Amino acid sequence: MSLPPTSPAIAVVVVAAGSGERLGYGMPKARVPLGGEAILTHALRGVAAAGIARQICVAVPKGDEQLRSLCQEFRAELLGDDGSDGDAEPDGVPEITVVSGGATRADSVRAALAALADGTEAVLVHDAARALTPDVVFHRVAEALAAGAQAVIPVIPVVDTVKTVVATDGDDARIAPELVTGTAQREVLRSVQTPQGFSLETLRRAHEAALDFDDAQSAAVTDDAMLVELMGVPVHAVRGASQSLKITTPLDLIIAEGLLEGPLGMRFVEG
Ligand code: C5P
Repeated sequence: MSLPPTSPAIAVVVVAAGSGERLGYGMPKARVPLGGEAILTHALRGVAAAGIARQICVAVPKGDEQLRSLCQEFRAELLGDDGSDGDAEPDGVPEITVVSGGATRADSVRAALAALADGTEAVLVHDAARALTPDVVFHRVAEALAAGAQAVIPVIPVVDTVKTVVATDGDDARIAPELVTGTAQREVLRSVQTPQGFSLETLRRAHEAALDFDDAQSAAVTDDAMLVELMGVPVHAVRGASQSLKITTPLDLIIAEGLLEGPLGMRFVEG
């Protein structure tokens, strides 16, 4: 990929501080093995392979020494040695920074934003759980930022019909637990993925504003673009990829294993 020479200096934040309870492994999701390696290792490899980051800043659960070690091992892998050559990375090798995440995803992002190197102009925020995101998606997001977007997200069309519902009561509750209140117009719906890209100044402002949210508002924040939308900043959408699935449930893990083992080397193809 070739970004224009005026492209902003990009850092990639990888949020990996979730508990992963829905996966049912009894360990943070980022440590769960996928094809013999931790989900976080796959995610970091994808970020590095995209070749757009000057710095990769990883938010891990507070006190999780295993994930911190894993980041150090990954740094050594990038350097092609034992990583003990001091702090400076050779040209083209991203700096790896590890921070302790917080109670919510937004807290983890804020912790990472505070640790970005001086001179960073744009940031991509990526879920470690989207460990198989192909290069092309990172490139589309970076290219939109280089073209002037303040905010850009990868999306895919929604394949299901989506309805709104309310919980039933009275007689209706004897029939079924919920009642349909409407049907969304599918053509304008999109499922949203990561990495989400922002000018650093915009994302920092959005996360500062979110510090004033009450508990209910904080709980409703599920991605970074939401916070930027609330400030009235246009959020652009580029094409994501179906293999960028967020590994959340045991079924997702089976699908991810299948993608890794499949004959096509799915990380590297479009879809
Ligand atoms: O829980 P959810 O599916 O929204 O998590 C998305 C991503 O955010 C995951 O990669 C998870 O590790 C990360 N996360 C985090 N800190 C939290 C909660 C989630 O870094 N407190």
